[in-house]
Amino acid sequence: MINVDISTAVGGLKLKNPVMPASGTWGYGEEYAEFYSPAELGAVVVKGTTLEPRQGNEPPRIAETPAGMLNSVGLQNVGIERFISEKIPFLRENKCIVIANIAGGAIDDYAEIAKRLDAEKDISAVEVNISCPNVKKGGIAFGVRADTASAVIKSVRKAYKGALIAKLSPNVTDIVEIARACIDSGADALTLINTVKGMSIDINSRKPLLPNSTGGLSGPAIKPIALRMVYEVKKATGADIIGVGGIECFEDALEFIMAGASAVQVGTANFYNPFIMPEIISGLKAYLEENGISSVKELIGVAAR
Ligand code: SIN
Repeated sequence: MINVDISTAVGGLKLKNPVMPASGTWGYGEEYAEFYSPAELGAVVVKGTTLEPRQGNEPPRIAETPAGMLNSVGLQNVGIERFISEKIPFLRENKCIVIANIAGGAIDDYAEIAKRLDAEKDISAVEVNISCPNVKKGGIAFGVRADTASAVIKSVRKAYKGALIAKLSPNVTDIVEIARACIDSGADALTLINTVKGMSIDINSRKPLLPNSTGGLSGPAIKPIALRMVYEVKKATGADIIGVGGIECFEDALEFIMAGASAVQVGTANFYNPFIMPEIISGLKAYLEENGISSVKELIGVAAR
């Protein structure tokens, strides 16, 4: 058996393995710490943080679908002050590589949060959420146009010196155009993809099941869409990508890596299997050993060349 290396790098950020949670599916790591140490993961991506605390959308916020889940959480979070004072200490004590997901209703909000995080040495990167489909102001409204996506990324770039990752929406006509705009505006890497806008109707009330009417679809139903977007963006731009969308096993993770992702995020699967990420890490290692591949980096984008 050969010695294998599952370390990777994305946007200049070195990771001991390519596996991390998708923002919002793992809180701030505390709840999962009873299952395993968060330091086992390549990085921890935390719930999207806004300038002020947010209560989120009216319940119900979740609807099951045959091959996935609709959510309309509405960026409930504790706000930047409490994130820094209450959440960072746990992540620091556990020696995690922390990627802070940030969101805002206005461009200045993003810049202000980024400035605050620039002063936090325990934060290794920011993931700029311009793709949340569940808020009335900001979120996806910034991410569906190249000019507004670019304006947000430029403002964060000015305020934040560390690795800057733009999280993009699949709800666009041309993902490559938005990806290029973000990279040209200073993003070091891209996370592809956020959820696909969808809905569910309650046939008894004859109304949308989610009070917000629509929600973001995640889970295995969106994997082929996400893979296609990773592949297209890698081929067109060569950018560093974190792939996300319906990953449930190490084989799914490998598909994303072969399509061009340097790392992957696991979202919905965390809700039904708290051990899914360590299982994927072990599976990747075993695949490399069994196939005589010394480094996972050799597989990044092999299917996109
Ligand atoms: C939410 O909080 O509504 C989900 C976050 C997102 O889709 O970016």
